[in-house]
Amino acid sequence: MSDIRTAVFPVAGLGTRFLPATKAIAKEMLTVVDKPLIQYATEEAVAAGMDTLVFIVGRTKNAIIDHYDKAYELETELGLRNKTALLEIVKDVIPPHIHCVFIRQSEALGLGHAVLCAEPAVGNKPFAVILPDDLIYNKDGASCIQQMVDVYKKKQGSVIGTQTVAMEESDKYGMVAGPQLEDNISRVDEIIEKPAPAEAPSDQAVVGRYILTAEIFNKLKTTGRGAGNEIQLTDAIAELRKTEEIYAYSFQGRRYDCGSKIGYLEANVEIALLH
Ligand code: UTP
Repeated sequence: MSDIRTAVFPVAGLGTRFLPATKAIAKEMLTVVDKPLIQYATEEAVAAGMDTLVFIVGRTKNAIIDHYDKAYELETELGLRNKTALLEIVKDVIPPHIHCVFIRQSEALGLGHAVLCAEPAVGNKPFAVILPDDLIYNKDGASCIQQMVDVYKKKQGSVIGTQTVAMEESDKYGMVAGPQLEDNISRVDEIIEKPAPAEAPSDQAVVGRYILTAEIFNKLKTTGRGAGNEIQLTDAIAELRKTEEIYAYSFQGRRYDCGSKIGYLEANVEIALLH
């Protein structure tokens, strides 16, 4: 069994790029084909052995909490109509051994702040962070977070999911650089949030998958506002790097940036074709 048992899902962002769709529901409840983005993320975590799911929710929290609640009326109705397959689909949203914890981020102060909100539920053990708007599909094998759990077990240190991007896109991502240690694994010597292409240390971008040691919480407590005037997880990771080795892992799989309209459309078309 993996010793990474807790996954944190920061889903309290404002989702401004999808307004008005995200006026009353979180971006993470938008569907790719027939499933909300958040469910692709929780299934990835559960398949990788995690059993405590911590949702950091904001003002549009209701739909997410309802999605992970038992739907007594719907389940009874489907049962009465002998819709067994649909009943299983509804029940499978949250398998019986899974604990869900919902924590309110009262103000969208940034991803770093959202992760810090998870501290009371995570405690002092290493944990995963999954951003559901990065939908990652690996048709040939283990999911992205499973691959990262395997790297964590080998290296016993924080692991950040990375991908090569075009240099002109560096100002949309956290960018990392450091020496390659083995196939697909590098040490993080530098990490900068949203640098201009001329300032980017490499073409390796951080995507929405992290395995972090609990020491990140101490760093987040003293992280001031950074890029976009938000408390950035990247800035806390830059501090953590000074006291612990951190690894960048170039995962196997296709990432869809579902925080952008074009990425969301691509995900819908390509995942639909797989059905
Ligand atoms: P984004 O940078 O994509 O921001 O957040 P956003 O608000 O969701 O979307 P746009 O840019 O306005 O369209 C990355 C992740 O961090 C979460 C988001 O929900 C998303 O999963 N987040 C961001 C929080 O939980 N809280 C915050 O204060 C900020």
